Amino acid sequence: MKKIGIFYGSQTGTTRQIAQRIASMLGVSPDEVHDVAKSSPSDLADYDILILGSSTWGSGDLETDWDDFLTGIESLYLPGKTIAVFGCGDDTMSDTFCDAVGIIYDRLQSTGATFIKGIDTDGYEFSSSKAILPDGSVAGLLLDQVNHPEFTDLRLRKWTSLIADAAR
Ligand SMILES: Cc1cc2nc3c(=O)[nH]c(=O)nc-3n(C[C@H](O)[C@H](O)[C@H](O)COP(=O)(O)O)c2cc1C
Repeated sequence: MKKIGIFYGSQTGTTRQIAQRIASMLGVSPDEVHDVAKSSPSDLADYDILILGSSTWGSGDLETDWDDFLTGIESLYLPGKTIAVFGCGDDTMSDTFCDAVGIIYDRLQSTGATFIKGIDTDGYEFSSSKAILPDGSVAGLLLDQVNHPEFTDLRLRKWTSLIADAAR
């Protein structure tokens, strides 16, 4: 079984709660759930699978604690590791819905890690997101706890099953 670590950045606690739900669904200990504000890039070394979560703030910006952390990890060489990105947003911010997921995905492409991407975005109404890749696939799991919390449980179950498969 591969070791899973979860790293999140959260302003008001939403992404933290989702990180904890993901941990519980995957049987990951709370000790392996880390706030990026209190983490250092070397903490990634402990894990085979990295689940990275950020909400989106401003107008399509990373959650602010991610600024330094992402700068610290984007130059790492991480072949053999698997990365899965998730994010919380608000689909009424229609031009920048969950942009942080796309930003993290893009900036970590040079690490050599393998990525588990997202699932469809059915039910959310938005016009653009950096998390939608040029081929139409989704860079990670997009969630909207503001307008559509009723979608979250099924979406988490679908996405975490992909991660559980990768962890075997
Ligand atoms: C001032 C402000 C700006 C925001 N900008 C965006 C945005 O550009 N895109 C988006 O999807 N969500 C945006 N949101 C919504 C937050 O990402 C959402 O409320 C999220 O659940 C917050 O998660 P957190 O508590 O983990 O930080 C914004 C919210 C606020 C209050």
